[in-house]
Amino acid sequence: METVLSGIRSTGQLHLGNYFGALRNFVEMQHENRCFFFIADYHSLTTHPDPTHLHDNIRTILAEYLAAGLDPDVATLYIQSDVPEVAELSLLLSMHAYVGELERTASFKEKIRKQPDNVNVGLLSYPVLMAADILIHRATRVPVGKDQEQHLELTRRFARRFNQIYGVDFFPESQPYTSNHELIKIPGLNGSGKMGKSEGNCVYLTDDEKTIHKKVMKAVTDSGPTEPNSPMPEVIANLFTILRAVSTPEVVADFTAKWNDCSIRYGDLKKQLAADINATVAPIRERYAEIVGDEAYLSKVVRQGAEKARASADATLSQVREIMGIRKF
Ligand code: TYM
Repeated sequence: METVLSGIRSTGQLHLGNYFGALRNFVEMQHENRCFFFIADYHSLTTHPDPTHLHDNIRTILAEYLAAGLDPDVATLYIQSDVPEVAELSLLLSMHAYVGELERTASFKEKIRKQPDNVNVGLLSYPVLMAADILIHRATRVPVGKDQEQHLELTRRFARRFNQIYGVDFFPESQPYTSNHELIKIPGLNGSGKMGKSEGNCVYLTDDEKTIHKKVMKAVTDSGPTEPNSPMPEVIANLFTILRAVSTPEVVADFTAKWNDCSIRYGDLKKQLAADINATVAPIRERYAEIVGDEAYLSKVVRQGAEKARASADATLSQVREIMGIRKF
């Protein structure tokens, strides 16, 4: 049995990228493994969200996760800031994380570019906090999308370094979890790059059928193939990547054949894509509507999750303190 941990920042609704990158696999594996799922609200503070929105964002994601099939009686579902042990472990790990290696992280460099007026320490130490999230439960598997690959590499590096410095075999080297050994990147509908909240190119799990249809029909395409079996330009390959995630292999094979013999009609491809995205998210959307207003249920889930997560976190942290020489009088 593996210890699996997955996390998501509390910065809005979940989109297809989050679902296929970090959630769907997780839902499938919760019964066979020791699974932790949490909402990374500390991490979202690095971009200074409006305090009046933070709580609602957490509620939205909590309800979406439950709607997607996470069972809080099986997996441990919690909010990062409900587990103060994570913050302490992050502080302890930061003593062995070097400024140079953090400055070289791709996500940090991107933030410097995107928000030059807010290069805060939280952004620099983001990977340390993320390592603490993972190592606090000594997780062996982490379902993440391709964009988190480097953060996971750093987590392994911090774990190895800790073990070496203190001469222990305490932290595992957490591996990404994927079903086919490839990290997933769901692209956006605007031609290039990944689907992401800050990119404004998302289909959300709670979008209604009409909205999905509208977004997909507006997706960028080209003028179509002119030679049989020609390589796909990125904009079209992106649509096929999403198609592979939501449609049956037969549908994918059919449109691939039509691409190859130049008979493909993008209107048909988009209609099929919109219908299959809708079929994927419709049950989630419906359950979300039932759950999101149920304050009593949500707070029960959160209390129960915090209790289970803290028990696991405390077991790790007390050993880390001992290993580092922090002992009680
Ligand atoms: P976040 O909130 O940006 O995204 C949550 C998860 O969704 C995946 N994801 C995608 N996967 C495929 N295609 C996409 N277009 C796409 N967009 C997002 C992300 O890879 C991620 O797995 N730093 C993390 C949150 C975090 C975390 C952790 C994750 C904090 N601590 C510990 C795992 C373990 C983040 O910003 O993810």
